[in-house]
This record gives sequence, C-alpha cells and structure tokens, in this order.
Amino acid sequence: MTHRTQKIVKILIASGVNLDLLGCRQPDIYGVDTLSDMEILVKDALRAWARDQNGLKIKLIFFQTNSEDVFLREISKDYAGAVVNAGAWTHTSLAISDRLLGVSLPYVEVHVSDVKNRESFRKKSYLSEHAIASVSGLGIQSYARGLEALLNHLVKKPKKNRRKNAAL
Ligand code: DQA
Repeated sequence: MTHRTQKIVKILIASGVNLDLLGCRQPDIYGVDTLSDMEILVKDALRAWARDQNGLKIKLIFFQTNSEDVFLREISKDYAGAVVNAGAWTHTSLAISDRLLGVSLPYVEVHVSDVKNRESFRKKSYLSEHAIASVSGLGIQSYARGLEALLNHLVKKPKKNRRKNAAL
C-alpha cells in the first residue's frame, strides 16, 4: 500500500436485510446495540488501526438496505474492500456471492450472532468460501474485527493481484 499519493481508500461496511432492526430485534440473540452504535465502534477501530499506518487515508461508507437489488448495486461500486453482513441473504443468495466475485471485491463476512451455533439452515453461507475471513458471534464487535482483518489483508496483498480499479 503506497502512502505517497495520499489517495483516499474507500471501504464499504455493508449490512443487508433486517439489520436495520438491530437493537430492537431479538435482543437475546442480536444484543441491544444498534447500527449507529456499530458505526461508532467501527470508526474507533479504524482510528486505532490507522495510527500505525503513516497517514493512510481511509474513508468508511456505512450502508444498509432491505433490497437485494440495491445491495448488489452498492457492492458493485468502486471500493477497495468491504465488510459484509448480508443478514439472511447469507444463507440464500448465490447472486450476492457471484456479484462479490464478479466485481473482484475483497471482503470479510461478518455476523452479529453466532451463526454456526444456531438453526441448521444458518450453517450454510454462500459468502464464506471466497471471504478473506468470517467473523461471527461477537455482537457489533464482529464488524470491527472484520474491518481489521480486511485492512490487514489489503495492506499485505501484492499490488498486481488487486482488482484493477481498486483504490489501494
Ligand atoms: C445475521 C445472521 C443471519 O442468520 C440472520 O438472518 C441475520 C443476521 C447476524 O448478523 O447475526 O439477519 O447475519
């Protein structure tokens, strides 16, 4: 990652269907933190991570939709990488997985709840196979840990393997 040009690296923090309900939805499973709480936490995590990165400029774009079409459009934009919580689409949407691969977007899959230890239908993820990493069960901390994993991956990754229009 070069710091000379001071380019702004854009990272998408994408939340899919029903994640707008975070904070009031099944608090025994998803906790009481909202998407706004998650934003604060993730911004803090970025500040801590970026401290050692010699002036690297990273812009986070927080995004949530309940429309799969809108989600597909957003992940197609020119991001250097994404933290993706696709909600229930994780378990149903080959389209989202295909799109992430199709636009060569490096991503970390995250979940607030511990999907592997819930109903059996949640064990299947269309996103995990091609993800840099999967983080689940840490509440909104999953997003922060996911961002760190993504940034560490992007910093290490040799330039020639990156997506043609990536911002790094
Ligand atoms: C979720 C887990 C999914 O199984 C579920 O459908 C969601 C939220 C999570 O963050 O724990 O909507 O992605």
